[in-house]
Amino acid sequence: MNPRLLFWIPAGLRLSIVLAGAAVFWYLFGMFAGVVAVIAGLLILLIVQLHYLFQLSQWLEDPNSAKLPDGWGAWTDIFSRLYRMRRGDEKNQAELTEWLTRFRQAMSLLPDGVVIMDDVLFLEWCNPAAEKHLGLQLDRDKGMRVTNLVRTPEFMDYIILGRYDEPLTIGFKDRKLVVQIIPFENRRQILVTHDITDAERIDMMRRDFIANASHELRTPLTVINGFLEIATSQPNLDPQTRMSHLKLMSEQGQRMQNLVEDMLTLTRLESVDYPLRPEKVNIRMLLEQIEQEAVALSAGRHTISLQLGGPDLKGGTEELRSAFGNLVTNAIRYTPQGGKIDISWEDKDSGPQFVVRDNGIGIRPEHIARLTERFYRVDKGRSRETQGTGLGLAIVKHVLLRHDATLVIESEPEQGSTFIVKFSRKLVAES
Ligand SMILES: Nc1ncnc2c1ncn2[C@@H]1O[C@H](COP(=O)(O)OP(=O)(O)O)[C@@H](O)[C@H]1O
Ligand SMILES: [Mg+2]
Repeated sequence: MNPRLLFWIPAGLRLSIVLAGAAVFWYLFGMFAGVVAVIAGLLILLIVQLHYLFQLSQWLEDPNSAKLPDGWGAWTDIFSRLYRMRRGDEKNQAELTEWLTRFRQAMSLLPDGVVIMDDVLFLEWCNPAAEKHLGLQLDRDKGMRVTNLVRTPEFMDYIILGRYDEPLTIGFKDRKLVVQIIPFENRRQILVTHDITDAERIDMMRRDFIANASHELRTPLTVINGFLEIATSQPNLDPQTRMSHLKLMSEQGQRMQNLVEDMLTLTRLESVDYPLRPEKVNIRMLLEQIEQEAVALSAGRHTISLQLGGPDLKGGTEELRSAFGNLVTNAIRYTPQGGKIDISWEDKDSGPQFVVRDNGIGIRPEHIARLTERFYRVDKGRSRETQGTGLGLAIVKHVLLRHDATLVIESEPEQGSTFIVKFSRKLVAES
């Protein structure tokens, strides 16, 4: 029914009842009684209205604690409509809160930073990624001007020029970030940040690797080309010189081959398409072969010993051969004649470990942390003399990474070095 009718009909009815009652009083008891009855009736109606008005005002003051009365007459309708409105509000509010929570959750999972600012760049809100990228703390920095928090000249220029359709790359603290401001609504702006530090580092490593590899390959190529030129321009060289040239060329050719093989091994070890397929590795057989190769390489210049005490492993035989072989080869190359090299396979509480100990030239402490970097050598000349590529320990590092193993290097200049490869007990193969 039309709400207005719902209001007027009961109100009119109640007024009619009062007037009719007063008329009956007048008829039965005279005019005075009639007037008193009208006043009394109206008073009662007024008190009832005032009572509900009071209840309504109380409810409005604190809608949550006070309960709405059922009401009387038109009040019933008013109260029930208010109640429905209130329920609708509550539902909207709950939906809004839920939506906001979901939005915040989604924002906090984003790998990119999002900062919401007002039109003059005062920080209103940001997600955890933005806190990390820009070193912000929302509760501390809220209301601060973003240009006071991110102080780099490039970012300032970006804001001053206001060319926001292009993103900007900035170096901020120790990170490299791509940032962009996106105006939205009329009076707000979003600052989006994307961290490219890792991508940039990988890119730099790749560039360095190509530069280093080209440099390493160029030296032997220059030597070979030089001798080839001599051979073509001086066809009548005596056989002895020619022989020595050929020997040097073949050495350089071997060096290039070693380098290319090491580079291919490294690439394969890093490739995701080439996962480790663990098999049972017969450590005794593997290490005895490595020892034989070491004896051959040393050609009687060193005393080499092998001790076997640990269990067999689960892993990649060829990869482990390459890693262990590299460490033993290094020990021989960097230990002068008459030196001693001890190879052992031990069983420790934490797991088995492979140890190569030499009493060679040793390594100064400042080099130790960098030894596993590609092409890093303490002494370039010495490494080349011994056919080193500078990639051996990088290969070792990658093989160990794939076996969850760690490399510990202990060394003292002029005293010798110990390389320890620690495996976890999880890798022990059941016999
Ligand atoms: N047992 C060792 N004693 C002394 N120095 C070593 C030893 N093993 C490695 N090094 C140092 O670490 C550098 C890196 O080793 P590696 O990656 O195998 O390259 P390289 O091809 O030069 O042997 C070597 O050039 C050498 O300076
Ligand atoms: Mg080496």
